[in-house]
Amino acid sequence: MDEKKRIVSGIQPTGTITLGNYIGAVNNWRKMQSDFDSIFFIADLHALTLRREPAEFRQTALSFFAQYLAMGLDPEKAIIYFQSQVHQHTELQWILNCNTYVGEASRMTQFKDKSAKHADNINMGLMDYPVLMAADILMFQSDLVPVGVDQKQHLELTRDIAIRFNNRYGETFKVPEAYIPTVGAKICSLQDPTAKMSKSDPDPNAYVAVIDDEATIIRKFKRAVTDSGNEIVVREDKPGVSNLINIYAAICDKAPSEVEKEFAGQGYGTFKIAVGEAVAAAFEPIRREYARYIADKEYLASVAKEGAQKAAYLAEKTLRKVKKRVGLISF
Ligand code: TRP
Repeated sequence: MDEKKRIVSGIQPTGTITLGNYIGAVNNWRKMQSDFDSIFFIADLHALTLRREPAEFRQTALSFFAQYLAMGLDPEKAIIYFQSQVHQHTELQWILNCNTYVGEASRMTQFKDKSAKHADNINMGLMDYPVLMAADILMFQSDLVPVGVDQKQHLELTRDIAIRFNNRYGETFKVPEAYIPTVGAKICSLQDPTAKMSKSDPDPNAYVAVIDDEATIIRKFKRAVTDSGNEIVVREDKPGVSNLINIYAAICDKAPSEVEKEFAGQGYGTFKIAVGEAVAAAFEPIRREYARYIADKEYLASVAKEGAQKAAYLAEKTLRKVKKRVGLISF
């Protein structure tokens, strides 16, 4: 039998889903969902590692879920749910915790960065973050994990934990691979094109949200930081223009070199408006669909519940095996 490979991925519900998340993650997931056995969740438990205002957090998580659907993730094709509604994530995390060393967790770059940035809140969850991620992945026996480069180290830790567990207790987990897209892997901030576009950037001009309206999108691109000179080329000393070319290429499904040709001899001003218009056109149906979904809480709840049930069913199969392997009692 020709079984499909399984993919799993998630995004933390903080801020708003951006053009960067769309090009680097969700739009790829959408394309993959027919060819892979796909599981996409809202990583709400991970988001608790930083302090959240509860009412706002709940609203953001629901909004992200509606945005997943609006961007074309299809509950007929993929399992789509909230991480916090499937208790197997944290249950497996505990057992994995007991097979992960403090040393390796505390060496994670993201842990060190976030500890430095939030020195007043270096909580246990911050260090345990990648172990929860390992549970998310391993409980589904996933083959591939589409993530950004910044998550590569966490994927390596996940593989180490899986291999260690398999060696100690016998073959239990499939050892997953990171799947890092090459095109549009890194979309940068429109205000600082040397930094990644962040969905929680305090400056809303730095990112474009998939639910921004046309006028807002075009305005943000008009204000985008460019470089000196006037050539429209991808080049290391032109991070601003290179970023805009990459965005236009990803949205219009063209090679960056084609985009360079298309705009050769034109000014930055014209190009920025063209990029803005292309992005606005691509996001217009998403914004429309989003309005429809977010107004229908009952539908969102029914999709989320069904997704959680399917996820729990798959995860429980792994968890039962894990509990047995480590010697926990079962009657
Ligand atoms: N840590 C990931 C990120 O910030 C989100 C995430 C949580 C994830 N669990 C996952 C991604 C499991 C892939 C698989 O991007």
